[in-house]
Amino acid sequence: MSTEPATPAPESLPTNAADETTISSDTFQAAVRRSEALWKDIPANPHKYRVLTGDRPTGSLHIGHLFGSLQNRVKIQNLGVTTFIVIADYQVLTDRETADNVATNVREIVLDYLAAGLDPENGRTFIFPHSHIPALNQLLLPFLTFVSLPELDRNPTVKEEIRAAGLRQINALMYTYPVHQAADILSVKGNIIPVGKDQLPHLELTRKLARRFNTRFPAEPAVFPEPDALLSETPVILGLDGGQKMSKSRGNAIMLKATAEETAKLLKSAKTDSNRQITFEPETRPEVANLLRLVSLCTGRAPEAIAAEIGDGGSGKLKALLTEALNAYLAPLRAKRTELAKDPGYVAGVIQRGVERANAEAEATLAAVRKAMGMFYC
Ligand code: TRP
Repeated sequence: MSTEPATPAPESLPTNAADETTISSDTFQAAVRRSEALWKDIPANPHKYRVLTGDRPTGSLHIGHLFGSLQNRVKIQNLGVTTFIVIADYQVLTDRETADNVATNVREIVLDYLAAGLDPENGRTFIFPHSHIPALNQLLLPFLTFVSLPELDRNPTVKEEIRAAGLRQINALMYTYPVHQAADILSVKGNIIPVGKDQLPHLELTRKLARRFNTRFPAEPAVFPEPDALLSETPVILGLDGGQKMSKSRGNAIMLKATAEETAKLLKSAKTDSNRQITFEPETRPEVANLLRLVSLCTGRAPEAIAAEIGDGGSGKLKALLTEALNAYLAPLRAKRTELAKDPGYVAGVIQRGVERANAEAEATLAAVRKAMGMFYC
């Protein structure tokens, strides 16, 4: 990267448009290309890679999460890649004042992970809340010295979250959590990061922090890897109200833990259009296309073929088909979830094991960081 300053002093941290965190289309395209190359290489070389990804524990997960990200994680895990899943509990506080229900939400999200097929019993999948990893949190301090205020201020995902939450007062963690997210990733030396496109600015920042640290504090081997995003091939699942994104808070989501009856009821109320002839036209008929895509994801059949079969059966027939397909598809996951939920000690044990491993990783990383910085005296 030719624009990267060799040893960025605080006053020379980049503030020019060319090096901002708002990612340019070139940077975006490059990330997409690297992601595609990775998808090809991972099956052949799973041991080169280490996954770190995660979620904010703001509630339980829905089918948008399942098709958009959980299945990706499970797929890579099952290729033999060591997998760390961070539950970003501190990050909950970026857009709300209290972490009410955080313990419940953490438990719920872990149940969703396990039901979807993340498997801590395989000895290489670890699930941990970052609040329990002191060394990870300490990495935030040196990392903050490698990023300028204007750089933080320009992050488009942060801007969008501020807008979406309608915040009148913005706390400093809202601006700095992308740096904390870099600490999540780099504390365990994650090098492939399965995320949605909205997370690319954070990934670019993480890459910069790794480069800037390695340049400023050279070590042999370099302290940090430069992680890559691994983008999902599944298009974003829209909300049932036709909204841009499925989300629990907008009430347009089918939760993984919903019952078959709740699922049927929600799908009945899903927005469609008045054209009885069902066709797959994502541009002009996004709501119908979204439901067809969901049937496709559950059955493995092409959305066009499903549309042709429904013909002039209208949205009623489409919804009936989807209800049946989705409930059948989710049945094993939901059964497993119900089973696991009966034993609260199991989830706690999974977290405990994740915390132990993440602490060991983060402590080793922090030791390497302090060594590279010359900060050890006794
Ligand atoms: N910011 C992510 C989100 O809102 C969650 C997250 C926290 C994360 N730390 C991470 C994602 C590290 C990937 C890697 O969804």
